[in-house]
Amino acid sequence: MSKQIPFKPAIIAGAVTLISSAIAAQAAPIDVSLNSAGELLLEYTFDEQKSGGMWLSAYENGQWSFTTITGATETGLAGGQWRYLYQSDLQCDSGDEFSLRVQGNYSQVDWLPGPTADDFYEVSCATLGSSGASSSSSSAASSESSSSSSSSISPPAHAPVVNASASDAQVQLSWSSVSGATAYRVEYGYATGALQDSQSTDQTALTVTGLDNGFDYDFVVVAVNSRGENASARITATPEAPAAEPESPAVGGYAFGLQSDGTLYHIDGGQTGAWAYLCLNSDCRQAVLNGNRYQYTFSNVTPGQSYDLQFKVQDDASSQCIADASGIAPGNGVTSSPCGSGNASGNDTGGGDNSGGDDNSGGGDSSGGGDNGSGADNGFGGAGGVRVENGVVIANVAERYRVRHELSGNDFNNFNIEYWRARYGALELRDYTRPEAASQRQAACGTSDPCVVVRLDSAVPLAMSDASGNGKDCNQQSPNFRYHKFYGDETNFYYGYVMDLIMPDGSILAACNATQAQRAAATSWQAVMRPDQNIPRPFAQGAQVEFEVTINFDRAQVTGDNVNYYGQTFKYVLGEGFVVNNQDPAIGPVAVNDAFAKLGGDTTVPHLSETGGNQRRFSFMQHAYNMNPSNIQNWLQGRRLFHTNFVNGNHIEQFMPGPQAIGGNLPFPEMAGKASDPVQSSCTECHTNNSVGQMQTGADVVPPKMIGLGLLEAISDSQIEAWAQENGGTVSRITLDGVEQIGRFGWRAEAVSVEHQVAKALHDDIGVGTHVAEFGPSELSADHLHDLVTYSSLLAVPVPRANLAGSQGLAEFESLGCAACHQPTVTTGSDTAFPELANQTIHPFTDLLLHDLGEGEFRTAPLWGLGLSGYIANGSASSLNLMHDGVASSIDEAVQRHNGDGADAKTAYNNASSSARQAIDRFLMNL
Ligand code: HEC
Ligand code: HEC
Repeated sequence: MSKQIPFKPAIIAGAVTLISSAIAAQAAPIDVSLNSAGELLLEYTFDEQKSGGMWLSAYENGQWSFTTITGATETGLAGGQWRYLYQSDLQCDSGDEFSLRVQGNYSQVDWLPGPTADDFYEVSCATLGSSGASSSSSSAASSESSSSSSSSISPPAHAPVVNASASDAQVQLSWSSVSGATAYRVEYGYATGALQDSQSTDQTALTVTGLDNGFDYDFVVVAVNSRGENASARITATPEAPAAEPESPAVGGYAFGLQSDGTLYHIDGGQTGAWAYLCLNSDCRQAVLNGNRYQYTFSNVTPGQSYDLQFKVQDDASSQCIADASGIAPGNGVTSSPCGSGNASGNDTGGGDNSGGDDNSGGGDSSGGGDNGSGADNGFGGAGGVRVENGVVIANVAERYRVRHELSGNDFNNFNIEYWRARYGALELRDYTRPEAASQRQAACGTSDPCVVVRLDSAVPLAMSDASGNGKDCNQQSPNFRYHKFYGDETNFYYGYVMDLIMPDGSILAACNATQAQRAAATSWQAVMRPDQNIPRPFAQGAQVEFEVTINFDRAQVTGDNVNYYGQTFKYVLGEGFVVNNQDPAIGPVAVNDAFAKLGGDTTVPHLSETGGNQRRFSFMQHAYNMNPSNIQNWLQGRRLFHTNFVNGNHIEQFMPGPQAIGGNLPFPEMAGKASDPVQSSCTECHTNNSVGQMQTGADVVPPKMIGLGLLEAISDSQIEAWAQENGGTVSRITLDGVEQIGRFGWRAEAVSVEHQVAKALHDDIGVGTHVAEFGPSELSADHLHDLVTYSSLLAVPVPRANLAGSQGLAEFESLGCAACHQPTVTTGSDTAFPELANQTIHPFTDLLLHDLGEGEFRTAPLWGLGLSGYIANGSASSLNLMHDGVASSIDEAVQRHNGDGADAKTAYNNASSSARQAIDRFLMNL
């Protein structure tokens, strides 16, 4: 089978054409030539000295292969640039044509992305001069070089040398003028991503405005004329908001006090604790150091009222009280006030329950959990789900690490650089809050209070030193556990403390009593949640808590990504299990908790906070909330494959705000060259953000949304047959490998399973064969196919944006006859491909049957996620793409196309009151 790569034809005289400008932003080849042995020499400039690897791959005989760089020399240039001369072992014989692409990293930090599908250099060896081999003319090479007749003009002589300075929401650029250039194009974008935006000018300076403060942006200036272009190196600048007015150092000369505006401060920047807290009536918040002054501004301070103040630092596992004062009214303070000095309201040494190492006598209890290191191939063998044993609620769930906390800005919902490399874990909760478990608490938690023992298993190497190589404290070499979060607000949790090590024999060792070697080897940790006298929040059966872990990784080898990561903010009801309900309006609607809240059963993900730009546009990209720990690794690997370009192996993500994850991820070289005649080279180009996609050439249906698919597969055959009996509709019967099965996937229900559909997509849309049925010959391993199936099956359904159970909209939907086909509720079978999908009560609003609405037979479209689909696909909630052709842009338009078997429902809808129709619209937009 011959592979077709979408090469653009070459070639301008001079032998090398840069096919796409995207790579020009990364590195500009300044020369390509042959040495006397006929081997290729490439010369590049970069804007800094490169210390990492550099590799070059060539497409020849239907394959991308990585060629060896056999020699590299570097030379410093003026203007902070560096020149590199690479000698490859690529033999360049007259008549050969290569496509080359370049990937590499420099300074161990900046990943230099490889080219995207169209980014190649085309090299025609025939036209390359060489000192030894004589270049003969060949027909292959001469075809496109005719434009050289206009040789009186030559391309801009050199690349501009660029200066950038950043200020509030803008960056001022200026550059050296380039002889021969008629204009300059400034390309820019977030530093880790593609340079999406550009502006042109004939000046040698430009101010780019409207940028997001606090984000790194990259800029490239391209000198342009009619004969060609010459691009500068990437330059990075970070716009910043103007610094806040410095605070007055103290009020009335006090060193420790409370300002009238609610700012609580303590002056002595000499404290060395890793964490510093300021507490107002025991409400402790992490303090910010500003000069020599720690401070935190409370929003709820009332003039005239008196407050108790505390200042604490935490050095390792335990906090230390530094200062306290009681009865302080806003605008007042004390000049000095060490803890317990008499001014104080009693020497509460703070920290309270966070020294977990003391009370772990029952630690052996936790060894029944995660079964770390054996069983399933990812090391997190235990089954997922929530069960009750002897009154103890045991919950096992997968964890995936994120760059930031929920609500702390960007990249909570996003995917990190190298997200598939050990950036996941498994959590086990043993919850003793039910009265039936009371007698077991002392042994498990060292208290008679309601308590929960949390075990974290993680396959990561912990970071023992920071980015500069300095050793970290014990509390940073072990994960931190945070609970009693103020319902999602990261700065507002009451305790963050270090988890204890679970030793191989099951015993528990406090992190700061362990040696560094023990901490470095640890992959299992424990924390205990329980009530605390300082915490005015219920901790008893039925109360909702939120918790998360913070984990420190070794810096990613290649991409040099973050060191600190944060887990999911789990929302959990003590004595019961995980919930989707929010308790913080900043995340989304509060108390969506009725019988329809878990649209996708326990897979349903809670509302995604909208901080950091368009984070809610990741709503269809999350893993099932109840994911079995043994599936998370495959799911993340599947996501990687879903975002891999099967032509060139690159990782592609649609550009979204957020500094991490986008654009700069590592390629998957083994996947390069697998595509054959692809419609698109990756799944994600059709299934962008997993929402409804664009109509592709040659197709008559649009890519559907990719959520809850495993749940649809888990609906039993007998249920589908029963719906057909009751309400009409055609069961789609498909024979696969000689066995008749019920078709469920695709608009015409032609695929019997997610695997069948994925194999079909790989084969028909991308040109990659698998072992499934007629979709061979196999070019993708069964494991990789399984990863893609895991990913596609376990994409979570998001929670609705309102309670639906008693809503007028649902009632009208049912009474007008919509629900006969769009089945509101069903329970999945018990024998399912993925255990987390079994026995789930779900609300897919489909019967999976074919109905003829007058345009041929189509499967009843599942309506879950409908209200988010427009926003996720194109940023606008009201711009919907409904029905199989994606043409209906509103719910009303979709209903007006319900003819044939849907005509009665359409007539009933048209005859209903406008308030009934609006209620249906509201109901569906909340799905
Ligand atoms: C060229 C565009 C394109 C590419 C590439 C593509 N798909 Fe699709 N996908 C579609 C279309 C169109 C449909 C609807 C097919 C139909 O109705 O027959 C679909 C349907 C699906 C479905 C069924 C969804 C449902 O609700 O029934 C799954 C699962 C799926 N694709 C997964 C994948 C995976 C995994 C890949 C990558 C291996 C992929 N697709 C690549 C266009 C594409
Ligand atoms: C006889 C079965 C049937 C009935 C009754 C029915 N539908 Fe549908 N509905 C379908 C089918 C089949 C499709 C997909 C048709 C297509 O894509 O061409 C669909 C598609 C839709 C869509 C588009 C969904 C999407 O994601 O593209 C909406 C919205 C919808 N129906 C709403 C309704 C409403 C509201 C009612 C009641 C007034 C209703 N339907 C009654 C079978 C039915």
